[in-house]
Amino acid sequence: MDKFVINGGNALRGEIPVNGSKNSALPALAAALLTAEPVTLHRIPRVRDIRTMQRLLVDVGAKVDVEDGAVRLEAAKIVSPEAPYELVKTMRASSLVLGPLVARAGRARVSLPGGCAIGARPINLHIFGLEQLGARIEQSHGYIEAVAPDGLRGASVHFDRITVTGTEDLMMAAVLAKGETVLRNAAREPEVMDLAELLIKMGAKIEGAGTSTIRIQGVAELGGAEHTIIADRIEAGTFMVAGAITGGDVTVTGCNVEHVGALVAKLQQAGAEVTQPGADSVRVRATGKLRSVDMTTEEYPGFATDLQAQYMALMTQAEGIAIIVETIFENRFMHAQEMARMGANIRVDGKQAMVAGPRALSGAGVIASDLRASASLVLAALVAKGETVIDRVYHIDRGYEKIEQKLAAAGARIERVE
Ligand code: EPZ
Repeated sequence: MDKFVINGGNALRGEIPVNGSKNSALPALAAALLTAEPVTLHRIPRVRDIRTMQRLLVDVGAKVDVEDGAVRLEAAKIVSPEAPYELVKTMRASSLVLGPLVARAGRARVSLPGGCAIGARPINLHIFGLEQLGARIEQSHGYIEAVAPDGLRGASVHFDRITVTGTEDLMMAAVLAKGETVLRNAAREPEVMDLAELLIKMGAKIEGAGTSTIRIQGVAELGGAEHTIIADRIEAGTFMVAGAITGGDVTVTGCNVEHVGALVAKLQQAGAEVTQPGADSVRVRATGKLRSVDMTTEEYPGFATDLQAQYMALMTQAEGIAIIVETIFENRFMHAQEMARMGANIRVDGKQAMVAGPRALSGAGVIASDLRASASLVLAALVAKGETVIDRVYHIDRGYEKIEQKLAAAGARIERVE
């Protein structure tokens, strides 16, 4: 298993480019199952979760070719509409094939995901939505089986809680349903909008993506399309925090600044200087002291839960007490104990963490527990005195492409060792 060895203390300087969004690419890949024609996707990040999804699509019957950064998918026939436990347990987003498979093949068998490091994360809302669309769903042996032999029919679906992949899954099911589907209390994340754009290029009729009410007129079939995935806002945010936490001057390029608006506001309140040198770049400079600023995670356009851990690392270096409230997942503070081992002063009480700073961090051996927690430990290590060894970096490889090379190019002393 690979580890990162990081020697902290260098201020990061220079440009750091971002990749295409993992969380946009995953549903886009699944959407290719909705048509027999080829779908070509550009800017797909080369990260482990994407490889897992590609494997799943091949198992289902799709042809997947990766060339020059583009992924070409062709699902001429659905051979086996199943997502096995072996894949779902490594990546919960596998449940994104549920909607497309029922819509296209009239049948899907998908393993239930079970618990995960950041909380229970059930998929009851995906199931509820599909039932509203007329699928019959049964659960046995850890799998759910959904059947709709005569096809799905449009319906009104009200999510009683906002769910990102749930909205995406239902959108993909509804595009081939008979009649109109209205999704209410839908997720407004940029990744949902990106998926809608791709589906529209494939011939779907969708209005309102990016708002909380999405209207879909089902069509009989979809065709091929070519689409470029949006920039990864979480990767961008992670590098922005890297600039601020190291007292550096980092320009993150190839991103959509609007998508990181909530983080920009927090960085500015904390005393960092944030400017926009170009249409798709954002510069973060932190020359003076940082101030503590409270933060609560929310659905988009609020502060992303996927940046909460990185923000906590930043607050260990800020003057005062910051209260961080996690409202999306019930167990997403695992990084706090690891940061405490590096000298941070953090108290966790249920959904709330209190971070008192600034504290001089010192390098230590720490363990990455999930994707974003690992990123936050890298950030903490960049300012810690001495050497930090981060174990289990396979978590970080799920969602960041070559993060160590990107950070090293900006002056970080970080190395991957086997
Ligand atoms: C997506 O997960 C992202 N994953 C997550 O990214 C992200 O943290 C999360 O949205 C929130 O922004 C992908 O896009 C592939 P949810 P998702 O359904 O869709 C509860 C990362 O680090 N819920 O919006 O699975 C759920 O337990 C990750 O890249 C139900 O109760 O999250 C959670 O508390 C990890 N029933 C809340 O809703 C359901 O059926 C929001 O989850 C579905 C969700």
